[in-house]
Amino acid sequence: MIRACVIGWPIEHSRSPLIHTYWLRLYEIDGSYEKIAVRPVDLPKFLGSLHARGFAGANVTLPHKEEALRAAEFADEAANAIGAANALWLDRDGRLCASNSDAFGFITNLITEAPDWKRGGRPVTVLGGGGAARAILYGLLGEGLTEIRLANRTRDRAEQLAQEFGSRVDVVDWELRHVALAGCGLIVNATSLGMTGRPALDLDLTELPVDAVVADLVYHPLETQLLAAARARGSRAVDGLGMLLYQAVPGFECWFGIRPEVTPELRAELVASLHGP
Ligand SMILES: NC(=O)c1ccc[n+]([C@@H]2O[C@H](COP(=O)([O-])OP(=O)(O)OC[C@H]3O[C@@H](n4cnc5c(N)ncnc54)[C@H](OP(=O)(O)O)[C@@H]3O)[C@@H](O)[C@H]2O)c1
Repeated sequence: MIRACVIGWPIEHSRSPLIHTYWLRLYEIDGSYEKIAVRPVDLPKFLGSLHARGFAGANVTLPHKEEALRAAEFADEAANAIGAANALWLDRDGRLCASNSDAFGFITNLITEAPDWKRGGRPVTVLGGGGAARAILYGLLGEGLTEIRLANRTRDRAEQLAQEFGSRVDVVDWELRHVALAGCGLIVNATSLGMTGRPALDLDLTELPVDAVVADLVYHPLETQLLAAARARGSRAVDGLGMLLYQAVPGFECWFGIRPEVTPELRAELVASLHGP
């Protein structure tokens, strides 16, 4: 039996077990995927005992993503560039290896939901300056975009990202985010605004071309005010659930040996879980 898990603190909210156990059932794999609450102070010990505990690997969620990368003996390019790990595995020599599939998840979902999202080579506006924004910048730059406008409430964080990711990223004042949308083909909300229990993202879409794509990383609620406003004006809306589903694909393949498919049934199960507690 192959075992994997997701670790975080807290961990109750994680939807990863739902995704992986769905695939284990679908492909009739003798395996398990559990969620384990690991306190930050216990993380090094837990990672050091992954093999002894019988795990092939693990997903990593908040607040362990940066620390897990530091603990790994090998990290792939995405994890290093994003500065955080969301998946771990042990190689043949028992070395702890780290990866980050958030950018892969975002881009794969975007291509699936809006295949022509790059049409016209127009600029993209990204809102946010945290871990998620880092993954989005890495993913978008990997797609060859030449102009990304980045706005974050704390401008310094955006400046830091622009410095790391290079001259294709231009920092825009948070107050000017509405006008930054002019001429853009895509906008991405990578802030936590719009999440259940948080204020909505205040964004005036007037300047955004109607045929642009509006993507929100928030998936609780699934239909944020931003996405509803985008649909209401005839723009395409891409929710955050697809990213969550696709980011799980490489980890499952690595641990269980089958590249799983993101099916409508799996998405429906996740949507149903969002309506639960
Ligand atoms: N769909 C997925 O698979 C997926 C994956 C990862 C993350 N996410 C979602 O992406 C969002 C961001 O995650 P993260 O890990 O980057 O979080 P984070 O590191 O805590 O960053 C939070 C971001 O939100 C901004 N923000 C928070 N409150 C704000 C306010 N009142 N006004 C303006 N900006 C505000 C922060 O700005 P400051 O820098 O100024 O504080 C920062 O840019 C979350 O909703 C998360 O659930 C989704």
